[in-house]
Amino acid sequence: MADSSVPHPAPADLAGERVDYTATHLSRRTAPADPLELFGQWLAAALAAKADGTIGEPTAMQVATAEVDGGRIRPSVRTVLLKGFDADGFTFFTNQQSRKGRAIAANPDVALQVHWQPFYRAVRVEGVAAPVSRAESEAYFATRPRGSQLGAWASPQSSELASSEDLRRTWAELEERYAGVEVPCPPFWGGYRVVPERIEFWQGQPSRLHDRLLYTRTDGGWRISRLAP
Ligand SMILES: Cc1cc2nc3c(=O)[nH]c(=O)nc-3n(C[C@H](O)[C@H](O)[C@H](O)COP(=O)(O)O)c2cc1C
Repeated sequence: MADSSVPHPAPADLAGERVDYTATHLSRRTAPADPLELFGQWLAAALAAKADGTIGEPTAMQVATAEVDGGRIRPSVRTVLLKGFDADGFTFFTNQQSRKGRAIAANPDVALQVHWQPFYRAVRVEGVAAPVSRAESEAYFATRPRGSQLGAWASPQSSELASSEDLRRTWAELEERYAGVEVPCPPFWGGYRVVPERIEFWQGQPSRLHDRLLYTRTDGGWRISRLAP
């Protein structure tokens, strides 16, 4: 029997499920010329919201790739954690032989989205992904908890597994193999930096009259335009 304390709206209820967004207005006049500055402000607000429990994973973002497969273009999307951003782009780390890694190798055009729900905010990025340097991947890997480092070795990410026991056994074997020594960064594991070409800031507003400011990269700067919601 369903646990009555857990809300499970019937599909029919979803049509009526809506919230009218009230939030500060995103003005083109006062928007910073550099989108990374605005991104930094919004991220700082999301990180502060983690401290009071309003947002669970403020750095969670979706990464969309597009693979060409037998003449069809197949988009796919998954969540990763944003591990850095600066004028050069947005960085995340993963198994580079995973489905996303293979997709990026074949087509480095990707899209990212973060959604900070309590603020009715989303940021969409479109750009080109490239692997970060080996030194940068190794430096970040060295900061990960040991269990995650072993997990990176243990998991042939995106491959079919016979069972979860196999994965745990492999992890336990690796734990023994690396007992007392530093876990090296796997050669197939590392970061990607997405160099943005377009960055859109979406701010929810009442009556669905939302703000959308789109920054498009120009020679040496950014052009700001307002899009219809
Ligand atoms: C909140 C959250 C954070 C995640 N962070 C990462 C990450 O930083 N790197 C990663 O490889 N996978 C991360 N994952 C798992 C991915 O969503 C995905 O399952 C995995 O990368 C395999 O994707 P692929 O088969 O498309 O390559 C995360 C999942 C969630 C829900």
